[in-house]
Amino acid sequence: MTLYETIFTRRSVRKYDATPLTDTELAAIQQVLNGVKQLPGQSANFEIANAGKLKSVAAPHAILAYSPDNDAALANIGYALQTVDLWLQGNGYGSIWMGMGKPIAPKPDYRILLAFGKTEIPLRSGESGYKRKPVSEISNEDNAIARAARIAPSAANLQPWQLNFSQCRVCIQYNGKGIGKLFAGKMQKIDLGIILKHVELALEQESRKIIAITPKIGAKIFEMELAYE
Ligand SMILES: Cc1cc2nc3c(=O)[nH]c(=O)nc-3n(C[C@H](O)[C@H](O)[C@H](O)COP(=O)(O)O)c2cc1C
Repeated sequence: MTLYETIFTRRSVRKYDATPLTDTELAAIQQVLNGVKQLPGQSANFEIANAGKLKSVAAPHAILAYSPDNDAALANIGYALQTVDLWLQGNGYGSIWMGMGKPIAPKPDYRILLAFGKTEIPLRSGESGYKRKPVSEISNEDNAIARAARIAPSAANLQPWQLNFSQCRVCIQYNGKGIGKLFAGKMQKIDLGIILKHVELALEQESRKIIAITPKIGAKIFEMELAYE
């Protein structure tokens, strides 16, 4: 299954087989992590940890994400690790982003984890299985890109985003209005990176070439602009 196809079947998995993956299976996941695409100028670090080093995590493993504590770096973690979330689920594993689960002894630059393992929980059967806002509420256009973006996962399923399409550009904005823009938390920064990955995969599915991804971040603005041709 391709990463794009997995967008339409993935789910957050909360029940796992406690049996650890084999060294060969973990090595394959490590290889995906080693090659994972990050946003320009960003270099988060990722580490696979086992259950003994984690608390409040039901899965036997998790990928711990480390980065500086700024908005672009957090969005980058969402963008990079959403590739891995989709890869895991497209390759028969379960996975879940977890803001609540933690390493027992987190390093100062720890930001979030993506838990994973074997599971009996089946994938979703298609787009209709997602509890999400309608496309009309999150996008100025109803198209294949917006539909793939709409079902991206977000912390507490808040879906804190708005897509604006214009000529060969899509701008993904944090949807806090007015003063609300000031209150986007860390998880919402990660969420914007996650939906950005769905948008990118959907554009590539339509044979579009991504020219630039530009974070626009300031005291009162938080958005990611993607230009394509
Ligand atoms: C950044 C982030 C943090 C999350 N943290 C948690 C968490 O701590 N506990 C949990 O059960 N689910 C967590 N989730 C999963 C969301 O609740 C889930 O993605 C959302 O409800 C949509 O459901 P779905 O992923 O099955 O489509 C998190 C998701 C994201 C993107």
